[in-house]
Amino acid sequence: MTMKGQSFEAVFGRPAKVVAEAPGRVNLIGEHTDYSGGYVLPTAIPQKTRIEMSPRGDGLVQVATMSVNRGGQRWFRVGEESRGGLWLDYVQGITAVLRGRGVSISGFDARIESSVPLGSGLSSSASLLVALARALRQMLDLSIDDVEIARIAHAAEHDFVGAPVGNMDQMAASLADEHTALFIDTRTLAFERIPLPAEAELLVVNSGVAHQHASGDYKTRRAECERAAELLGVPQLRDVDAAAEQRIASLPAPLDRRARHVVTENARVLAAVAALRAGDLGRLGELFDASHRSMRDDFEVSVPAVDALVESARAQPDVFGARLTGGGFGGSIVALVKRGCAERVGRAVVEAYARTPGRQATVLVGGPAA
Ligand code: GLA
Repeated sequence: MTMKGQSFEAVFGRPAKVVAEAPGRVNLIGEHTDYSGGYVLPTAIPQKTRIEMSPRGDGLVQVATMSVNRGGQRWFRVGEESRGGLWLDYVQGITAVLRGRGVSISGFDARIESSVPLGSGLSSSASLLVALARALRQMLDLSIDDVEIARIAHAAEHDFVGAPVGNMDQMAASLADEHTALFIDTRTLAFERIPLPAEAELLVVNSGVAHQHASGDYKTRRAECERAAELLGVPQLRDVDAAAEQRIASLPAPLDRRARHVVTENARVLAAVAALRAGDLGRLGELFDASHRSMRDDFEVSVPAVDALVESARAQPDVFGARLTGGGFGGSIVALVKRGCAERVGRAVVEAYARTPGRQATVLVGGPAA
């Protein structure tokens, strides 16, 4: 059954009561630092998830999604949430977490539409979770602030869906906008909005290689970071100073490289914030490049297709820096490009990538105006 374009009213036979949205995000720098209590610097992208919702009184939740990949209409009963390995888990996660916080939910109908591509490393799931939490906040008149919305979304994804993710994406979906970078201390959830430079624009290109977080590699990296912190005698890698180089080097491989990535990446986020404040785009670009090398060589979360995209972006004029963004093992790259040049660079990068058979990239941000 295809429902693309079908209105809330056409699906549920009555109008929606509330509408809420939340954006996807691109992380500028600070990758795989959030589950070690570190620093991150995401910004919102134009793509978003939009939820329309109306209450029901019979305890049922009926959800229709317009996304081809998610597909279809499903339902569950409030109070009987159970993980099924499908996108509906995200909806069940939000109601389960809210109920756990004492919120009474008597059911609802919801229509979901999203322009954030799945598996692209741009947080389609966090944008769905935050949009859902916002819709429920509005519909039930809950007094919950935006940081709390991010906490609820994170609990739904981490505890209910079972994806061992950190809290960057939910914070970004709840608090970021497209004009500023959101500098977050993921340990305290303190945040600051830092204006993006007027002389540069962001280019985001999806490699077409889809990642899958709940599975294997992400979980392994997280466990490696926790083990490295334990061996270094600190609660989290956030507590290790870059000056502790010797001690990091004495860890058994590959924990030495994993810890080195996290510790140097935290330092790069702080340096990137300083560069943004100083309007030093050259320095910011160098930090992007260094972050990519560290993710590729020390944290080993890149793949050859993504490295090829980064390198071809770097080879273009007017590019300050480029890196893999998000969890890795596929996904997207972000490049910092001189204003006015992103469209040209994007086209060149996509063309070069397509010269390898089977590879097809898509410009997601910085392409021709829609
Ligand atoms: C995914 C996770 C985040 C974060 C990034 C890597 O997007 O959801 O919590 O760990 O990977 O920086």
